[in-house]
Formats: sequence, C-alpha cells, structure tokens
Amino acid sequence: MIQPSARQPWALAFLYALPHGMVAGVHLPDGAEPVAEEVLARLTAPERESAVALRGYRQVQFVGGRLALAAGFSEMGVRRAPIQSDEHGAPMFPEGFVGSISHKQDLAVGLLARGQAGVGVDLEDTDRPRPGVAERVLTAAELANVQSLPESRRWVDTVLRFSVKESVYKAVHPTLRRYVGFGEVAVWPSPDGSDRVEPLVPDLERFRFAARHAWIGTRVLSTVRAELL
Ligand SMILES: CC(C)(COP(=O)(O)OP(=O)(O)OC[C@H]1O[C@@H](n2cnc3c(N)ncnc32)[C@H](O)[C@@H]1OP(=O)(O)O)[C@@H](O)C(=O)NCCC(=O)NCCS
Repeated sequence: MIQPSARQPWALAFLYALPHGMVAGVHLPDGAEPVAEEVLARLTAPERESAVALRGYRQVQFVGGRLALAAGFSEMGVRRAPIQSDEHGAPMFPEGFVGSISHKQDLAVGLLARGQAGVGVDLEDTDRPRPGVAERVLTAAELANVQSLPESRRWVDTVLRFSVKESVYKAVHPTLRRYVGFGEVAVWPSPDGSDRVEPLVPDLERFRFAARHAWIGTRVLSTVRAELL
C-alpha cells in the first residue's frame, strides 16, 4: 500500500523505487485556477511554454505530471530534461530513459526508468462502479473470470485489469505508434500485485510484459514494462 503525504497542493505525495522504475506522486490543487507563476517556474522552459498554452484542469494535470517526473530525475541524481509530448500526446524522454504519466483530479504520477524497454503507469479509482465498463474493456475470457468472483470483488477486479491495459498501451506506444484495442491483451491479476499480461495479437506477442499494481487507499496504481523480444 502506498501511503501519500498529507495533501498540500504541488507537494510531493510519495516517491518510491518500484520494480518498473521510480514512481513519484504530486498533490494537485482543488479547482482549475491557472497555475501560479512560482509553480510554473519549477518546469523547464519548453515545458513551461507548453503549460501556458493549456487551460483549466488540463494545465494543472500537465504541470503535475512534469513535476512528478522532475522528482524522479532528481531522486536518480540526473539532470532533468524537458519532457515534451509527441503528436499522439505521449511523453518523450531523453536517450537512455523511458517513462510515463497518469493523473486524476487531485494527484499526478510520473514513472521514470533507465533503459529502452517501454514503461507505462496508470491510476484509477475503484470507489464508484460504472455499468457497462467490463463489457467494453474485457475479453470474453476475462469477463467470465470476473463474473465467477463474488459480486463485491467484480468492480475492483475490472478496474484493475482496465488500469493494467492502459499502462500496456502507454508502454508499447513508442514502438507500435498505433491505437491498441482493449481486446488485444488479457490481464490476469494476482493478489501479490504481480499481474500477467497475455498478448492476443501478433504485434503484442513481440513483447515480454511485466505488470504490477499497488494500492493508494481505494485507488489502483499499475505499472507495466514492455520489453521488445
Ligand atoms: C492515452 C490514454 C491511455 C490516456 O489515459 P487516461 O486514463 O485518459 O489519462 P491518464 O491521466 O492516465 O494519462 C494521461 C497521460 O497519458 C500520456 N499519454 C497520452 N497519450 C499517450 C500515448 N499515445 N502513449 C503513451 N502515453 C500517452 C500523457 O503523458 C498524458 O499526460 P500529459 O498529457 O499530461 O502528458 C487513454 O486516453 C487512451 O486512449 N486509452 C485507449 C487505449 C488503451 O488504453 N488501450 C488498451 C490497450 S490494452
């Protein structure tokens, strides 16, 4: 279980060296006010330029993700590089580094790792069940597995699989550079936090996947490493 610090806007919520990289969380402020100058000043110049072009929550979340990655660079003792987005919205990392970003209204997380293998991070809330999601994001085999669980566990198990799939997408994007459908992998969660990703199409069979999840209260944080074979 990840224990965040007491909520204070723009403060570091947590910083952990997890199996797939350094994961930092940054508390975000309530509301969608323009980000203050002193916070923008903590970004690199190109990031600041991108941030000022954004509005509302989008600006807050963009800044939070970059500050989370900055905490990762700092913890690794590396001079940080500007993290800009490619034409698909994916963050781009300097040579020798990979990483990923996810955010919710009150928290942004950044995953940073050395190497070439793609990584992905995703944050999802499990507190409000939403009808129809399982049918949309799970394969028939996953759906049958979820439906065999006690009713109280079905929604959490669905969200966990959904989160790992989003992390898979972020991890393979730099290589595939195409949309990946939710039916292209199946996810088999494990109570010990290490989940199995089963590729279901030839494109994705080219990767060796490792997936993990951790809990921040009722929120799930998934990380995925996708190594090209
Ligand atoms: C792109 C996507 C994964 C983002 O997830 P989300 O839950 O909407 O938002 P999150 O807060 O978790 O992540 C947002 C961050 O994702 C990153 N991101 C956006 N597009 C991306 C892409 N193509 N590849 C990798 N990362 C991407 C960005 O860093 C973004 O933050 P930023 O704009 O502040 O830099 C999602 O919108 C999507 O398109 N999913 C459908 C595809 C999919 O997941 N398939 C499952 C296949 S198994």
